[in-house]
Amino acid sequence: KTVAIAMGGYTSECDVSLQSGKNVYDQLKDVYEVYQAHILKEDWYVWFDDQKYPINKSDFSVLIKGKKVTFDLVFNTIHGTPGEDGLIQGYLKNLNIKQTAADYYHAALTYNKRDCISVLKAYGIPTANNYFYNQGDNIDPDAIVDAVGLPCFVKANRAGSSFGITKVKAKNEIPQAIAHALKEDDEVIIESFLEGREFSVGVINYQGEVRALPITEIISENEFFDFEAKYYGKSKEITPAELTSEETQSIQELAVKIFKTLKMKGLTRSEFIFHNGKPHFLEINACPGLTKASILPQQAKAAGISLKDLFSNTIEMA
Ligand code: DAL
Ligand code: MG
Repeated sequence: KTVAIAMGGYTSECDVSLQSGKNVYDQLKDVYEVYQAHILKEDWYVWFDDQKYPINKSDFSVLIKGKKVTFDLVFNTIHGTPGEDGLIQGYLKNLNIKQTAADYYHAALTYNKRDCISVLKAYGIPTANNYFYNQGDNIDPDAIVDAVGLPCFVKANRAGSSFGITKVKAKNEIPQAIAHALKEDDEVIIESFLEGREFSVGVINYQGEVRALPITEIISENEFFDFEAKYYGKSKEITPAELTSEETQSIQELAVKIFKTLKMKGLTRSEFIFHNGKPHFLEINACPGLTKASILPQQAKAAGISLKDLFSNTIEMA
């Protein structure tokens, strides 16, 4: 099989995605014929022998040293647009090229925090309360505090890796927090703060079975699990989390239910706060981080699944 690992993307998460893609490439380069496809705002190209080869967007092919290379499958490691929000899925589907993540519609749904939460709420899954703000609307801090209380989290509605997120403790901080979120997206979601321990759980399609990986507890040294806590070691990530077997089961079962409800594919990871005795859904990542420091690879190792096996399985399942 000829496989393109799609990495990069058009958002603040580009660098993280390039690390995810490189990690997948390093694991798979002896198993398949793999190429690193950089999907960047400026430019789409395959990186081969320390050189760029432009991708022909009309059929996602590349001419390398006079030879045309086409792809059977794309391993999607793009965080954010266009890999996690369905855009590249639609493009590849049109070309009849398979890819490893959720399809265009379900990826778009999960990448929209408000819409994803609304769907899961309709299925009875506990979540935080939220308030939605569109760029250009009047900012009404009183209405926001009435809806979600304080402290609250102001987030870009469509973003990842905590870009654009502020934990707000006082009403007068709201306008600035909204302005910060608007740097990432023109939609903002403001959510109530849920007191409780935070957990992250990978759910994957492994050998044809949807399965939850061991749970990770996240203990951030910062106010919340922000970018620095995520990527610069400012947090403790404990895998498997210290939980009773009933608690473990309740989180894993909910995570599997969410994967199935949202018709996810490949590798996913969702986040929960254990609040008032039950897990509350925060969000799901349809293309989670696969860097060496990322949570899902740690969980796979804790489950006895090597990264080579994890990533090869992802290709076989697609
Ligand atoms: N959005 C980041 C990459 C994650 O979910 O791991
Ligand atoms: Mg995320």
